[in-house]
Amino acid sequence: MRKFTREELSKYDGKTLKEIYVAYKGNVYDMTGSDTWMDGEHYDHEGGLDLTQQMDDAPHADEVFEEYKIIGELAD
Ligand code: HEM
Repeated sequence: MRKFTREELSKYDGKTLKEIYVAYKGNVYDMTGSDTWMDGEHYDHEGGLDLTQQMDDAPHADEVFEEYKIIGELAD
């Protein structure tokens, strides 16, 4: 499994690189194909970050990740 530092992850924000990766509870997910993450923006949130703490602000729970593959892990 690929390990991402927070610095590496930050490039996958849909702008610096076209891919949009999001970390949640130590796992990294690829959100590039999602309509709700276009250009790396998802409501008040941005890709390339660890959004574990921000899930409390969401109107949904974490089953939204179920259909997305884990592509890596946070290194720290
Ligand atoms: C203000 C905060 C947020 C709002 C208003 C919001 C809203 C939504 C809505 C409307 C959807 C699509 C319908 C659904 O599945 O319920 C969705 C999907 C999703 N959300 Fe959020 N969300 C927020 C925060 C977050 C955060 C912090 C994360 C990550 C930790 C996140 C991850 C996801 C994922 C992975 C999906 C599935 C995308 C897809 O199906 O293509 N959301 N969100």
